[in-house]
Amino acid sequence: MKTYLVTGGAGFIGSNYIHYMFKKYGDAIRIINVDALTYAGNPENLKEVEKRDNYTFIKADICDKAAIEKIFSENEIDRVVHFAAESHVDRSIKNPEVFVQTNVYGTAVMLNCAKAAWELPDGSFKEDKRFLHVSTDEVYGSLDDDGGYFYETTPYAPHSPYSASKAGSDMLVKAYMDTYHFPANITNCSNNYGPYQFPEKLIPLIINNALQGKKLPVYGDGKNVRDWLYVEDHAKAIDMVQEKGRLFETYNVGGHNEKQNIEIVKIIIETLRDMLPETDARRAHLTEELITYVEDRKGHDRRYAIAPDKIRAEIGWEPETMFKEGIRRTIEWYFANEDWMKNVTSGDYQKYYEEMYLK
Ligand code: NAD
Ligand code: DAU
Repeated sequence: MKTYLVTGGAGFIGSNYIHYMFKKYGDAIRIINVDALTYAGNPENLKEVEKRDNYTFIKADICDKAAIEKIFSENEIDRVVHFAAESHVDRSIKNPEVFVQTNVYGTAVMLNCAKAAWELPDGSFKEDKRFLHVSTDEVYGSLDDDGGYFYETTPYAPHSPYSASKAGSDMLVKAYMDTYHFPANITNCSNNYGPYQFPEKLIPLIINNALQGKKLPVYGDGKNVRDWLYVEDHAKAIDMVQEKGRLFETYNVGGHNEKQNIEIVKIIIETLRDMLPETDARRAHLTEELITYVEDRKGHDRRYAIAPDKIRAEIGWEPETMFKEGIRRTIEWYFANEDWMKNVTSGDYQKYYEEMYLK
């Protein structure tokens, strides 16, 4: 039985990945989830799995070397899937240091502890050990509206403190592979959407505001483009890269689903109107009049677009969920989990929202 050490598994993608893995492998794997439970980590995301005998949660910071060493010394870890990070661009613009700390230093701790646990006296590594570093397309910088794509060979050109810190972490993983032949892969994925996404990110923020009849903030001219991927497709890609990918390789993961932000906002309004019963009072205020153009994000990248040719050719992964279906499933999940939304938007979130949008 393989043992997985997942970092940041209480966040958006990490929790979806854990659900995906238990759905796929059931009792045939064991998962240890280490998460510091920052504002973005939520144990509620995992309440369906917390009673499983083959699931363990450990509350720890990935920068805490002693805590991470202890996990490796007490468990024979076969796979590391490293999600833990500070992940929100706007927060990185306001407060960059914690991004460097968690994303760069935390990754260094994870790499070093895995290396120490897996390295043999002759400098080679135990068989069938793999470390997967979950990264982002933002490390490649920004594309023009001219139809180009990010490839695995595109030079790094990050702009925000977030993407710079992720680029730094990718470089560390590359350095471990080049210097020590450390058994790792990197995936660089485009924008994810789906259940359990924290409402600081565009899609859940718009769903939540629209349902409450609040203004829908669109940065700048609303024509920035992102390439949206349903989160379960990302989880599947990660698993496939770990099981079928060539070691030491980078794989870009993307949805082939480019949309301008303003299109996303309009699709959400339309889908909500379509899904709410005629009798639901909230339908009355669900119009495009809620859309409000606000000050642009500093250094706002214009367009991201992934060409997932390599992962398709080598591994056979392809995005499966069409946006129309994915956004309906996402909205259905938010309908069914109103308490989840209430809980995550109480307390600190209100302060964040006021500072970000109401000042
Ligand atoms: P998230 O912010 O929802 O979750 C991050 C998780 O990491 C949280 O559970 C948080 O508690 C935990 N964490 C943060 N700092 C920690 C620390 N010091 N020690 C231990 N745990 C810590 O993020 P997400 O959107 O799920 O993203 C997960 C990963 O995927 C990140 O590495 C991100 O860069 C990458 N990624 C995200 C997207 C996206 O669209 N969201 C796309 C591509 C790549
Ligand atoms: O590309 C992958 C990246 O996608 C991940 O690495 C990041 O962790 C993830 O947060 C995401 O980054 P973005 O900055 O693209 O996502 P966000 O949801 O914050 O914003 C998406 C787009 O919507 C972006 O162009 C900014 C815009 N936006 C966002 C918010 C929150 C608005 O117009 N209004 C908003 O209120």
